[in-house]
Amino acid sequence: MTPTADVDWEALRTVAREAMSHAYAPYSGYPVGVAALVDDGRTISGCNVENASYGLSLCAECGLVSELQRSGGGRLTHFTCVDGRGALLVPCGRCRQLLYEFGGPELLLDTPAGILPLSEMLPQAFGPGHLSA
Ligand code: THU
Repeated sequence: MTPTADVDWEALRTVAREAMSHAYAPYSGYPVGVAALVDDGRTISGCNVENASYGLSLCAECGLVSELQRSGGGRLTHFTCVDGRGALLVPCGRCRQLLYEFGGPELLLDTPAGILPLSEMLPQAFGPGHLSA
């Protein structure tokens, strides 16, 4: 995995902000954008897409993991999430689980409290390893 120091987090935030500008959030009025680096060097992104049946709304991370798989799979290494003002946002609990599936405990998250591994944001995570144990 690329060391944190070599990663241009500000560039990744710019990608997330651009993705956020495409959000469909007419019900919450709360657009979200996310971006991540993949272990083969790809950069992927996503935005939230809401629904008139509120509970069916898709978080931005849903779009991101879908794009990950569609564009060739791989492992997430670095992730950032921004709100409608472009400020850093922590991913919701469900989305931490989505990220865990494709990044594992070492995935680095760009949070308001600094760069943190997912293991600190989702301790004792349930994951694919439990099913194969
Ligand atoms: N949202 C995300 O897209 N990702 C998160 O991690 C937090 C919440 C979206 C869902 C909903 O469309 C809006 O933010 C308000 O909750």
